[in-house]
This record gives sequence, C-alpha cells and structure tokens, in this order.
Amino acid sequence: MTTAMEAAKRALELRTNLQKWAHEYYVDDDPSVPDSIYDESFQELLSLERDFPDLQTPDSPTQRVGGAPLEGFTQVTHEVPMLSLDNAFSDEDLRDFLTRCATSLGIPVKKLKWTAEPKLDGIATSLLYEDGILVRGATRGDGAVGEDITHNVRTIKSVPLRLSGEKIPKRLEVRGEAFMPIPMFERVNELAKENSTKVFVNPRNAAAGSMRQLDPMICAERGLAFIAYGAYQPEGIDLGDTHSETLDVLESLGFKKNPDTVTFVGLDDLQEQYDAILEKRNSLPMEIDGWVVKVDAYAQQEELGFIARAPRWAVARKFPAQEKPTTLLDIVFQVGRTGAVTPVAKLETVFVGGVNVSSVTLHNMDEIERLDIAIGDTVFVQRAGDVIPKITGRIKGEKRTPVVAPETCPACGSHTYREPDEAVLRCTGGASCDAQIIESLSHYVGRKQMNIDGLGEKLLATLYTEGLVKTLPDIYRLDFDKVASLEGQGQRSAEKLQKAIEVSKETTLARFIASLGIRTIGEQSSKVLAKHMKSLEVIRGASLTEIMALPDFGPITSAYVKNAFGSEHFNEMVDELIALGVYWPDEEESLDNSLEGQTWVLTGKYPTLNRSALKAFLENKGAKVSGSVSKNTTVVVAGKDAGSKLTKAQELGIKVIGEDDVKAQFEGEI
Ligand code: IVH
Repeated sequence: MTTAMEAAKRALELRTNLQKWAHEYYVDDDPSVPDSIYDESFQELLSLERDFPDLQTPDSPTQRVGGAPLEGFTQVTHEVPMLSLDNAFSDEDLRDFLTRCATSLGIPVKKLKWTAEPKLDGIATSLLYEDGILVRGATRGDGAVGEDITHNVRTIKSVPLRLSGEKIPKRLEVRGEAFMPIPMFERVNELAKENSTKVFVNPRNAAAGSMRQLDPMICAERGLAFIAYGAYQPEGIDLGDTHSETLDVLESLGFKKNPDTVTFVGLDDLQEQYDAILEKRNSLPMEIDGWVVKVDAYAQQEELGFIARAPRWAVARKFPAQEKPTTLLDIVFQVGRTGAVTPVAKLETVFVGGVNVSSVTLHNMDEIERLDIAIGDTVFVQRAGDVIPKITGRIKGEKRTPVVAPETCPACGSHTYREPDEAVLRCTGGASCDAQIIESLSHYVGRKQMNIDGLGEKLLATLYTEGLVKTLPDIYRLDFDKVASLEGQGQRSAEKLQKAIEVSKETTLARFIASLGIRTIGEQSSKVLAKHMKSLEVIRGASLTEIMALPDFGPITSAYVKNAFGSEHFNEMVDELIALGVYWPDEEESLDNSLEGQTWVLTGKYPTLNRSALKAFLENKGAKVSGSVSKNTTVVVAGKDAGSKLTKAQELGIKVIGEDDVKAQFEGEI
C-alpha cells in the first residue's frame, strides 16, 4: 500500500520527468527516452492522481486535457493591445522601411540592428503566467478583446504549463503563434475524408477551427504547436534590452524559439537572409507567409512608437505568391448553369500556398492558347492567400496531347458555339441540357442562396436522373418516401431533408433573387436590387433605366435582369415557387443594418481587399462611407501609406483599424 507521502514524492518525480521529456520531444525535437517510457510514466501518474486527488496540480502533464467542454467563450481584455504588422510587398519596400527607421532614429542605417523571424501562418495567441504557472490563454480577437481559450492552449504540447529555468517570473505574458504543422494538417484532413467530416482548406483554418472548439479533447487530437515571438508585462524577470535577448530568455523558460531567427546589422545581409528563408519556405514543416523584421533594441522601438494599429519598428515582408510545378494530367470540360463550357485542368495533386490543388479552372480556350499548354506538360501552379489557384507557365512534356475545344456539349451532346466577341464556349442545349439544369438546381439550393442543408450536387443529380426533381418548384413537391428508397438514403435522411427544405422556405428577398440564377446577378447585386427596390413586384416592373440607375448596375447586367423578368416562363416559375411556400419578411426587416448610423472612412492602399467592394459591403450594412474624417466619423480603415486622413483621425481620437481587423470583424462575409 502506497502511503500519501510516498505517492506525493513519486508524483513529483514523475511530473518532473514527464515535463523534461515533453520539452525534449516537442520543443527541442531531441527526445532522450523512447515513447514507451513516457507513456508508462504518464499512466502511472494518472493512476496516482486518481488515488490521491490532492496530488493533482494545474501544471501536471495529465491536465493538458481535462474538465468538461465549455458552454461558450469568455472575453478577455488584453492589458497590452495585440497589434498587427504593416506589410512590405517588395525588396524595395523592405529596404525603404529599414532606411526610414534609421532616419527617424537619426542614425546611419548601417548601425541599426535587426532581428528577423519567419511569419508563421497560424493564430496569434497570448499566454499569461502567474508564479510560473499558465493561468490563461487567449486569442487576439480584435486586438483589444480576445476570447479565453485556456482549455485548448493547455493541450498544445509546446506550451509549457509551468515555466522552467532558474528564475521564475511572478507574472509574464508570452505571445506567439499557435499553428498546425503541415504533416499534422494532412493527417487531420485524411481522417476527415475517411469520416466524411469537415476538410480544412489550409493549416491556418485548421488551427483556428481547433482553437475554437469548446471540447478540449478535439483540440488535443489536432497536434497544434506554439512558437513564441514576444513577451509583455514582466514582473520578477529581466527580459533584456533587445528583442533577441527576450527570445533567448523565453527559450530558457521552456518555449520553442524559431530556429530560423536571425539577427543582423545594416542592409548588407538583408537580401541574402531574405532569399535564404524564401528558399527554405517549401521545406519547412509549417506554413509561413512572410518574414517579420524588427528593430532589435527596445529603446529604439520605443522611440519609433506606433502608427494606427501597427508598430513603426517592425514590418512583415510578405512572400510572393507560391508557385509549384506539377503534371497536367488531363483537361476536362464542365458545363455550368448558364451553359458555359469551361476547360478545367486536372493535375497531379500539389500542395501550394497552403492548400492541396488537383484541379484548376482555365476559364476558356483563349487561356489554353495563351499558356500554350498540352496534356503531359509540367505546369506551374500559383496560389496566393485565399485567391483561386492558377496556372502561370509550363515546361513542354515529352509526349504532348493538344487540347481541342469540343464541338458538342460533353453533357448533352448539343452543339457548342462561341459568340463573336466572347471567349466562352457555350452549349446550345439550354433547358434540354442535363448539366445546365443540375447546375441551376445546385445553385438554387446553395449556402448563399436558398441554403437547403443536405441537398448536395450528388443527391440532386440522383433526384434528377430518377425523375424526382426536374425543375426548381419540384424541390417542394418531393416524394420523400421515394427519396428514402434511393440508394445511400434512408428514412432518417429523407426526414432530415424534408425538414431542411421546410426551414429554407423562409428567406430574404436578396437570397431569393440570387438563387434564381439570373446571369451576372450574384449575392452582391441581389442585395442591391433588394435594398433599393424593396419588393419583388417593384423589381419585376422596373424599367431598364430604373435598373441601370442602381449602384454598380451597368447596361449588360441590367439587361439580364430585365430579360429574366420579361420572360413569361421565368415569371411562372417564380410564382410557382412562392405558391409552394417560399416567402420572405418585408425587405426593411430582413436587411442587415448592423452598421446603420455609422460613418466609415477608407484611406490608404488595401493590398488584399477590393476597395469598391468593401465600400459596397459596408453600405449594404447601412453604413455611410465618407471621403473625409470629421468628429462624426465612427471608424477609419487605414491601409498602407495612409496619410493626412489617418493623422486627422488620430488627432480627433477616432477609432482606427487595419485591413486585417476588417477581415476579422466580418469573417466569413467579406
Ligand atoms: S510580431 C507588434 N512576429 O502576424 C508586433 N508576429 O499582423 C506583433 N505573426 O497576427 C507581432 N509570426 O500573430 C510577430 N514572428 C512573428 C510572427 C507574427 C506570425 C502574426 C501575428 C499577428 C500577425 C501580425
């Protein structure tokens, strides 16, 4: 029988060993014991803590996952705001930045010392330690207020639950990036495919999705990692006088320091260092999307200060869009809902710009001609940020099969044609082309249109070929007994579908218009139509001139609207859908007016956002977008090189946010 005293002694010993081994494994990548020894000790500690619950401490390795899932996230106010970084998009931008720093400091640039680290593409995370124990983990949120994700950060093995080293601070906030290593990302997605659950588009989304789990067991399985890049609010510890010294202090406390951190002086080594990390980018086990260069000395950082939401002493040199070679296996032709026959390149899967790419749309035959590609070539695939991947060039293959535009529609066999001034090939099949009908049906039920859950393209294609759904109104006349008897379906899934269809009947005017598949009328233009015309009847009766008077409605788009509602067949279908139960509350009520009464000012350059689209987006939410800053301005979105408007906003104490903040605030919408 183990006495309480013996148990306490043994538990301490086990905890110390486990902490040391975990550090060797997850931080140093250099384990000194085999996994089996770690596992045995872990099990022994678990059983000791079960027998003597008093021995369980919050920093015990057994506590990385514990407790019940949370109900929701609590907000955390950051004592020191979490800032973003300004971007440099070219070598020149970067050199200018460094020279500007030196000039502001009044010293020659060759005397200024920098530290540079890879910019990890993950989730900015704040960790708070009190008396050496991790007490809180939080997301960045909008920089001022984040979410408490302590339960999830505890599961990250490279986050120390207890600081190590000789001097344990009374208080310390450590900031860094939590991310999903690429091999883990691939494993998580493989599993997701097997289990038919959500597949993540890139490691950053996977990391964010894991951190937003209420149940820490899920995050624990996702194998996230953490690398520290800064420390704040030190009490009882000396962080040194420079950023590079702080990184070493953090390393001695048990954090992983980025092995690709470099320190240099002046501009001489700059290009070489940048080229080196860019070259290494593809062989790193994690996604990086840039290089962060920081003035090393804190005294100089302080002197340089901040502008808007970013420090003047640091910059993110964004990497150019990533490009990778792969083989062009085939070119297939897909028929869209408007009859456009689009060539799609089928590729040997390649991981580029953070996602796996196996097919790339080529838009039209001109594109194939321009690229001069043939099946069997090695093609270069480029993908930047969240942009659709594209083919940028090729090396001729040994055996090349040229691509020929199909004379007939690959789906229905009707002739294809090309309008004289159009690059697009079209199927003449119209309402008799199965592919066009299925695509129209699929568009109608899509997430941003009528949003019918569980009615994917595959099921729609089956319903269509089985003769159960031939037109949009047929969706509301479905015989669910027949659905239940289809292969792969059952009573339960049929009932679920019935419910989803019922629920989807309540919609908004904008969504309904978008769902009808009028050419060029997507989500944004439908919102404009709904917002300005307010009712279906007004839209139906509007003249071409009235439609053209709407914001962003040109003659072609307007003509498509006019023609659609001028067609008897189209109007009959619309009436039928309404008669079958599709409805929406009055437009005034259904609009998202969340920014009503606010005045926004957009200034500077936005490298990753389309300015006029952003303006329309904000206006659709009821905001006024003004060209000048006054005391009535609610918020200023300051982009790169923002000038006098930004200065004025700062003088007037008006809230200033950056491009990244806008994207964070309207995540999923913008
Ligand atoms: S320093 C005040 N260093 O980039 C400076 N940020 O827009 C604070 N990031 O979301 C940031 N790697 O999470 C810094 N080595 C690094 C970084 C890094 C990634 C992220 C950070 C933030 C964004 C800045």
